[in-house]
Amino acid sequence: MHLEGKVAVVTGAGSGIGHAIVIGLAGEGASIVVADVDGERAVAVAAKLEEAGAEALAVTVDVSQSDQVEAMIQATVDRFGRLDILVNNAGRAARGFVSEMDDEAWDKVIGVNLRGTFLCSRAVLRHMIPQRSGRIVNTASGLGLRGSPGGAVYGASKAAIINFTKSLAQEVARYGITVNAIAPGVTDTPFWRANRSEAEIEEAYRRGLVGRAEDFMPLVVFLCSEAGGIHSGITVDREVFVQRGES
Ligand SMILES: NC(=O)c1ccc[n+]([C@@H]2O[C@H](COP(=O)([O-])OP(=O)(O)OC[C@H]3O[C@@H](n4cnc5c(N)ncnc54)[C@H](O)[C@@H]3O)[C@@H](O)[C@H]2O)c1
Repeated sequence: MHLEGKVAVVTGAGSGIGHAIVIGLAGEGASIVVADVDGERAVAVAAKLEEAGAEALAVTVDVSQSDQVEAMIQATVDRFGRLDILVNNAGRAARGFVSEMDDEAWDKVIGVNLRGTFLCSRAVLRHMIPQRSGRIVNTASGLGLRGSPGGAVYGASKAAIINFTKSLAQEVARYGITVNAIAPGVTDTPFWRANRSEAEIEEAYRRGLVGRAEDFMPLVVFLCSEAGGIHSGITVDREVFVQRGES
């Protein structure tokens, strides 16, 4: 077990990629804070982890709200006494052309994806810097590396996360803290299925473009491990998924 004794906070862990990541981290011995704006989902995932023998705490949090983020980190330290890993996974999207986008849609996406990543990172660093160790993994997206019509706000938020990752990695390297990012490609989660027709989903599968949430488990476990400490500031881009011989 690579993460025995470590404590991990994973945001957006009630569903999709975050859910898969907490299973991966718990499987390596980490204690988990399952953080999600949907409290019921967080409780259900934490219960599942505990059934499997892990230690888990469910926290309801909107990562775009500073006071809620501070309370989440305090609850983590109160329960587990330390904090070693943060996975900034919570995210939301809005599609729409810039010429037609209203302020609220823009602010919501930037608020959760970018401000949320900043708020959670700042809050955990108050604990990681004094202990001289820590791992932060941010969730960008292939769309943060490539533009798409209707994807400006989402893509801009994810591109900003990539730069945030590089800058923060340089700020905290001296404390033994690493900061990396994953950039998932198309991944079959409720987030991806929302607002897509069955025909679009079928076409994406036919072209072999669709990955599974579990695909990220080994990568995130590695980036959070001792061995993963040689990498900081990188973004692992996952544009195309290798076919697994499934039809
Ligand atoms: N699925 C994809 O194709 C894909 C591709 C690239 C990047 N991503 C990124 O991966 C991450 C996870 O996406 P997913 O596909 O697993 O989505 P998902 O919708 O299955 O899960 C996202 C979770 O985040 C939670 N969440 C949303 N807003 C929140 C907030 N303000 N505070 C706390 N929790 C909040 C949701 O309740 C949900 O449980 C996101 O950052 C997303 O942008 C996904």
